[in-house]
Amino acid sequence: MQLPKALQAHQQQRRVGWGCAPPQHVSLRHSCKKQRAPTQAASVLNTSFVANKEQYMALYKRSIEDPAGFWSEIAEQFHWETKWEPNHMRYNFDVRQGPISVEWFRGATTNIAYNCLDRHVEAGRGGDTCFLWEGNDVGRQKSMTYAEALEEVCRLANWLKSAGVKKGDAVAIYMPMLLELPLAMLACARIGAVHSVVFGGFSAEALAGRMEDCKAKVLLTASGVKRGPKNIDLKKIADKGLDLCEKAGHKVESVLVYENDDAVPAADCPFTPGRDQWWQSEVERQPTTCPVEWVDSEHPLFLLYTSGSTGKPKGVLHTTGGYMVYAATTMRHVFALQRGDIYWCTADCGWITGHSYLAYGPLLNGATQIVFEGVPTHPTPARCWEVVAEHRVTHFYTAPTAIRSLMGFGDQWVKQCDTSSLRLLGSVGEPINPEAWRWYHEVVGSGKCPIVDTWWQTETGGHMITPLPGAWEEKPGSATLPFFGVRPVVLDDKGNELEGEAEGVLAIAQPWPSTLRTVYGDHERYQSNYFGPFPGYYFTGDGCRRDADGYYWITGRVDDVINVSGHRIGTAEVESALVAHPACAEAAVVGYDHPIKGQGIYAYVTLMNGVEASKELRKELVGSVRSTIGAFAAPDVIHWAPGLPKTRSGKIMRRVLRKIAAKEEDQLGDVSTLADPGVVQQLVELRGK
Ligand code: PRX
Repeated sequence: MQLPKALQAHQQQRRVGWGCAPPQHVSLRHSCKKQRAPTQAASVLNTSFVANKEQYMALYKRSIEDPAGFWSEIAEQFHWETKWEPNHMRYNFDVRQGPISVEWFRGATTNIAYNCLDRHVEAGRGGDTCFLWEGNDVGRQKSMTYAEALEEVCRLANWLKSAGVKKGDAVAIYMPMLLELPLAMLACARIGAVHSVVFGGFSAEALAGRMEDCKAKVLLTASGVKRGPKNIDLKKIADKGLDLCEKAGHKVESVLVYENDDAVPAADCPFTPGRDQWWQSEVERQPTTCPVEWVDSEHPLFLLYTSGSTGKPKGVLHTTGGYMVYAATTMRHVFALQRGDIYWCTADCGWITGHSYLAYGPLLNGATQIVFEGVPTHPTPARCWEVVAEHRVTHFYTAPTAIRSLMGFGDQWVKQCDTSSLRLLGSVGEPINPEAWRWYHEVVGSGKCPIVDTWWQTETGGHMITPLPGAWEEKPGSATLPFFGVRPVVLDDKGNELEGEAEGVLAIAQPWPSTLRTVYGDHERYQSNYFGPFPGYYFTGDGCRRDADGYYWITGRVDDVINVSGHRIGTAEVESALVAHPACAEAAVVGYDHPIKGQGIYAYVTLMNGVEASKELRKELVGSVRSTIGAFAAPDVIHWAPGLPKTRSGKIMRRVLRKIAAKEEDQLGDVSTLADPGVVQQLVELRGK
């Protein structure tokens, strides 16, 4: 689809440029010697945006042929306490050649929190606003400058040290979207501690599992959460999680509790003296400066647990140098971000989008951003557009599920607000259907904003396939072309690379700087999960199609992972939560098309002998998933199943279950291998009962 006006506007803005020149102290400390004379200087990207497809193609070619040189030039704009070795990028992406390993900026030391805050303050930009916070309830607002954020981060870093946290220790963070959440992430990074943010919507059990897995030394949490009209007792859930974690053999030593008194005042918040401390009183008295811990480029920065097709969630590990360079570079170029812009990403820091495009990417670029505590429909479906109007937001980045939900309320909520400041819209987390794309483009963006449909994953750390605004034509529903350094391939089921127009599975053929480095504590699982299915490639788990123009169209997961409202949920996790209920003998979970959530959760449940199906039992089973994983993973449908369609070897035929859920039993295909084909008809008859 052509967006001529929008593209022109972008080209003009591009000429104005931000000119993100390295702060002076960086160039003084490190004379920027080029390692070799490049044919296409990647350093051009440090000062201007990609103008057109030709320029992109030339730079892209170089990024693939000379990744180390390409990313070295880009990395010059950051502060490195010591520089990398000439051949700083080393890797093995092929399990047949030995253990998988990826290293970027070998030999260098840096600190990402320093690059997010001190670097800007030292360059005289300490008075720039970094955060504009919008509370859940209208009228609750805060703003914070880079200099203030630096002081807050130092205070918190000092508290962490006083609690015994050392370089390399894991810190769990279980908080609402208060400014203290991204600040806490930066405080960990400042002292070389590894943060593990657990989304505030996860249950006590999920929190416990994550704290136990990474042996978190401390937990940072809050008394409560405000979400729309609801107040949630977060600390009560955290306490239960702490107990469960201790029972599993790991004791979290200290807990810092932020009194979020709008949601739950201190008087109503459980508190364990000796272990718990109040954030406001303890952090307040800490000094506002804290020395930076310079860490190796490959020092672990954070863990983020994500669902896979089997087993418990995996602790995806990202390290410092490569992640920093990649998050910052994608942020700047995908959003064509310029000084004076007001950027708003609606993601929660509990997910990767909140890590890379709220906590780190914007701050690395010195941006001003909105941090939103609430939900898009509270108190009315105009909330987002009111915030856009009030703050003159220029960039808005959200998930298709939010777009579909707001679209369902009608255009009037958008039209009653002045959204003329918007210049660019972003989409992330799931395929965006053309109808939602068009509404986003026409109604929200008044037909003048490019839409960047960014495909990426927790594991990739940053955008992988995405438009660069104005550089080439967009097509609704396609993430378009790969970012610099990303070599996507479409494979057939035997692992052969398909050329030209093709459909198959999406894999990546060489490392990019923010490649996940391991699954925490289980390198074997990392290798078998991501590098085992197609040796020589990183396997994404997604299917995709490449069209005649070379554009990529993500067709969804090809494994047993479902994407509900942009949240990744493993069907195996939901099944094990259901089976944990004493009445449930067996469960099989599949995804089905859902008009708002993208995919909904459809659970087939076989009850224990003698147990009667009932409304109450259905509620209990849904409750079991809520309390084991979190409310966002609650099944939308429970389908009573006297039996499940299995092959003679006992394997559940999920394909059949998906078809029944989709009411497409006329397209079942070959069911001759089923042990008991009669079960299909029984299931069809019981649908909706
Ligand atoms: O299936 C793809 C889908 O979300 C998965 C990654 O989920 P997660 O690790 O939770 O990260 C979400 C935020 C980056 C992918 O494997 N996905 C993500 N973005 C898109 C997408 N599917 C289609 N289009 C996208 N833009």
